[in-house]
Amino acid sequence: MIYSSSGISLSDDKKHLLRNRLGKLIRQGGFASYEEYYNHVVEDSSGQELIRLIDRISTNLTYFFREPKHFELLRESVIPALLEEKRRKGVRRLRVWSAACSTGEEPYSLLMTFLPLIEPLNAWDFRLLGSDISTQVLARAKAGIYSKEQIKGQEAIQISRFFERISTGLTIKPAVKKYVTFARINLQEPFPVKGPFDLIFCRNVMIYFDQETRARLINRFHEVLAPGGHLFIGHSENLTGLQHQFKYVCPAVYRK
Ligand SMILES: C[S@@+](CC[C@H](N)C(=O)[O-])C[C@H]1O[C@@H](n2cnc3c(N)ncnc32)[C@H](O)[C@@H]1O
Repeated sequence: MIYSSSGISLSDDKKHLLRNRLGKLIRQGGFASYEEYYNHVVEDSSGQELIRLIDRISTNLTYFFREPKHFELLRESVIPALLEEKRRKGVRRLRVWSAACSTGEEPYSLLMTFLPLIEPLNAWDFRLLGSDISTQVLARAKAGIYSKEQIKGQEAIQISRFFERISTGLTIKPAVKKYVTFARINLQEPFPVKGPFDLIFCRNVMIYFDQETRARLINRFHEVLAPGGHLFIGHSENLTGLQHQFKYVCPAVYRK
């Protein structure tokens, strides 16, 4: 059920992990057995129980500017070239998708990379989509509240431009947040978005999928990317063995 609904592929050796993650749900719900819990999820026609189950299963680790080489590449070449090309064509539309964005650090890192380079910002139609299957992480992404620890390592100028202080830590400024929309998108299902996107980040989620799901997914990314658009995947992931039409750019970066 987990595989068919989310694409997350759990082999037998993940039984222990599954038991750990589901134990609390099962105890709290007063279920006598896994079977009873399973039936409850299947019978819930609202789909909410399945969402709760997937929330418990997914691994949400993320942090600001994770895999910094990607952000360097964006800043130094990908974004300037993209803006230059759009200017030449007289186009001001720019669309970026952070698929499987977890608690928001990735889309906000993208905003912090893009916004200073888009000049003048108000002349551009710039939007960023952050999506994930988990409603819990999306709620945190939308809130955009982070602790000082999580922001550690950012330059002071960067912090003052993008964050404001609140009693519980730091929050992304509304003037920055307005460029991002968060939505629940299950990458296993048909995309509710058509694009075309100039850039898609889909990092550190395909590791949980099997080859078949990965192949289907990257081909669907290819469809919604604009010609010349980039796909960024995690550095521990690759497209080896998958049939696709992307051109390899550098580790974990591909281009349509
Ligand atoms: C390890 S986090 C990666 C976060 C971020 N992309 C990064 O690299 O730091 C993996 C995320 O994938 C999400 N996820 C798992 N299966 C998914 C699916 N079928 N559709 C969309 N998101 C999924 C999880 O909820 C989780 O937030």
